[in-house]
Amino acid sequence: MTEVRFSHVRKSFGSVIALAGLDLDIKSGDFVSLLGPSGSGKTTTLNLLAGLHAADSGDILIGDKRVNDLSPDRRNIAMVFQNYALYPHMTVFENIAFPLRARGRGFAEAEIQKKVKGVAESLGVASLLARYPKELSGGQQQRIALGRAMVREPGVFLLDEPLSNLDARLRIRMRRDIKALHDRIRSTIVYVTHDQAEALTMSTKIAVFDQGELQQYGSPNEIYHRPLNMFVANFVGEREINFIAGQLQAVEGIPTFIAPGLSLPVNAEERWCSLEPRDAVLGIRTEAIFARPTAGSETVGLVEQVELVGPELVAYVKIGESQLSCRAELSSELRSGDRVHLTFDPAHFHFFDPQTTASLAGSTK
Ligand SMILES: Nc1ncnc2c1ncn2[C@@H]1O[C@H](COP(=O)(O)OP(=O)(O)O)[C@@H](O)[C@H]1O
Ligand SMILES: [Mg+2]
Repeated sequence: MTEVRFSHVRKSFGSVIALAGLDLDIKSGDFVSLLGPSGSGKTTTLNLLAGLHAADSGDILIGDKRVNDLSPDRRNIAMVFQNYALYPHMTVFENIAFPLRARGRGFAEAEIQKKVKGVAESLGVASLLARYPKELSGGQQQRIALGRAMVREPGVFLLDEPLSNLDARLRIRMRRDIKALHDRIRSTIVYVTHDQAEALTMSTKIAVFDQGELQQYGSPNEIYHRPLNMFVANFVGEREINFIAGQLQAVEGIPTFIAPGLSLPVNAEERWCSLEPRDAVLGIRTEAIFARPTAGSETVGLVEQVELVGPELVAYVKIGESQLSCRAELSSELRSGDRVHLTFDPAHFHFFDPQTTASLAGSTK
């Protein structure tokens, strides 16, 4: 059981600030995803933790030990990369056993047998031990690479986009396998991904990065339902969030969001909701706007596009100056050109300051 701490950690490459003063506390046994777009500093964070790069300043702790000056092999970590190069001339058994046979480890043969078999069983690959890598599927190979990392029983696993070379279906299955594995072994895992669905489904906590800065650190639920700024709100979610620029103001004493073509009453208990008019951006996800064929004089939008998404439709609806993505029932048979009524779920409104892009709901720490 091992915790990890970054304290004011900075790293530049020439004039590029890869990491701008990172503070991050990872509890023992947590599965933390570092999530962000390409170039946001995720791999840099992982490489600093692994000891593959040196920090410019700040402290990195693994357990209660400052590891800035420790070589990678003395940090009690194991790393699995995107390109999980297995040794092609070795069997699965020998690939997994490799770290135990490394110079100076001195494990007895019986102990190696026991450890490799234990790991192979927990990964469901015990029947593959005699095979060679070329006789395995991509998913099986990835599992062997995980096994090779696990066999050393490290305090912390570091995984950098380990599923990105797999096809979409297999990726989804491996997510569940890795999560189940974590539930069983309860090691600390730091997992780099640019795939928000991967982060949401597997992690106990998510650290969202943009441009070398940590934007938010919280449970998947917090990150999804209480984004601290517009970047997080938009990056997390299956499709882009709808942003609508408008004004919060009182209409007949009721806090209301006003934008061209829209007048939406707001949950009155929101503590930030004063009756002073102010500019705001409403963020609302597709699933919180429901479109149905119009029945009279209600709020009306014009369908511009329709997508079939599994059991439902997603309709892109023009209303005022915005085009909003909304859900609709399959049976509504909406098509472009149709006029629709939109229902907004105020429980899923996120309001942001248009200047700072910060959430008006404030910190959720
Ligand atoms: N070895 C390096 N030399 C120069 N620039 C680098 C190096 N590694 C990373 N960078 C730069 O640092 C920034 C963060 O990169 P990285 O941590 O790899 O991002 P991510 O993993 O989130 O895609 C990027 O601008 C990248 O170009
Ligand atoms: Mg990377």
